[in-house]
Amino acid sequence: MKILVTGGLGFIGSNFVRHMHDSADIVVVDAQKYGSNPANVKDLEYEFVKGDICDYELMCKLVKETDAVVNFAAETHVDRSISSPYSFIVSNVNGTYTILEAIRTCNPRARLVHISTDEVYGDIEEGSFKEDDILRPSSPYSASKASADLLVLAYVRTYALNAVITRCTNNYGRYQFPEKLIPKAIIRAISNMKIPIYGTGKNVRDWIFVDDHCEAIKMVLNNGDKGEIYNVASGAEKTNLELVSAILAIMDKPDLVEFVADRPGHDLRYSLDYSKTMELGWKPQHKFEKGLEETIEWYLSNEWWWNFLADDKILHPTPWKLEW
Ligand SMILES: NC(=O)c1ccc[n+]([C@@H]2O[C@H](COP(=O)([O-])OP(=O)(O)OC[C@H]3O[C@@H](n4cnc5c(N)ncnc54)[C@H](O)[C@@H]3O)[C@@H](O)[C@H]2O)c1
Repeated sequence: MKILVTGGLGFIGSNFVRHMHDSADIVVVDAQKYGSNPANVKDLEYEFVKGDICDYELMCKLVKETDAVVNFAAETHVDRSISSPYSFIVSNVNGTYTILEAIRTCNPRARLVHISTDEVYGDIEEGSFKEDDILRPSSPYSASKASADLLVLAYVRTYALNAVITRCTNNYGRYQFPEKLIPKAIIRAISNMKIPIYGTGKNVRDWIFVDDHCEAIKMVLNNGDKGEIYNVASGAEKTNLELVSAILAIMDKPDLVEFVADRPGHDLRYSLDYSKTMELGWKPQHKFEKGLEETIEWYLSNEWWWNFLADDKILHPTPWKLEW
């Protein structure tokens, strides 16, 4: 099977390339924006095309030669979407539209797995979202992802495209860009720097080890039903304060937590019912504590990977304030 992986130099995309490269021919297309890093996959064999998913001619050419497209390419950092939303609309909405058009017009037999997020549902105080729940995105990022999901579903209904959607919770693991909470906390803790936490630290996220997400995508790619949405989560719900405290405890560090002004529109809790994906035969394999230990160990042992990325993006506590 030949798979076109868009955004394959980013965090999850590169882990997916690693996950799949023994069982598929992989072509990566990536615009090499700030979250990308060729070092993530430098030891692997794959074909690389530098390009933008908004480029119809390019996408048509690539889609013609593939059996499946897995679309990771997106602008992904909520804080950045608050300070400058436009690029999120371009990559996440126009980009997904361009992929859909490329499949429709150039290779309608190609399978599409569109990688979405739990953030499209908005937050929930109690209980968990199911796949057919209403979408109430809170940030420009999640609104752009929700828009893309609706386009995918419309292309399935109108043009019978062979597409499926996955909506996953927060991922963690190796190769995550240091502006995201877990790598940022680990890297700052190494230098005994304060670790900023928004508001009161009570916001709850479900944390899934990236390999479990990649295996779920593989399962949905092979066995998911056309036009269906699959929630992916681990059930490990933690407040941000619990998460950072767990990192500090594993690293044997003192309390470095510093509460900072809350993010505008900050969702309180995400929670997914992922039983539908489990029915495909998938289940998360990594326990949170073990996965977190493994992740910390990886960042401690791979300073070469993150050292040159550790500039003001991770040192500044509230990036959205820069341009507000
Ligand atoms: N990180 C998470 O916890 C999480 C959770 C659920 C869903 N997701 C989704 O998974 C996908 C990947 O997330 P990630 O954390 O790996 O992001 P990332 O920011 O690490 O990687 C995104 C990649 O997409 C590329 N890209 C961006 N715009 C592009 C464009 N227009 N054309 C081509 N390439 C482009 C970037 O260069 C980068 O390599 C995203 O769609 C995101 O919404 C992420």
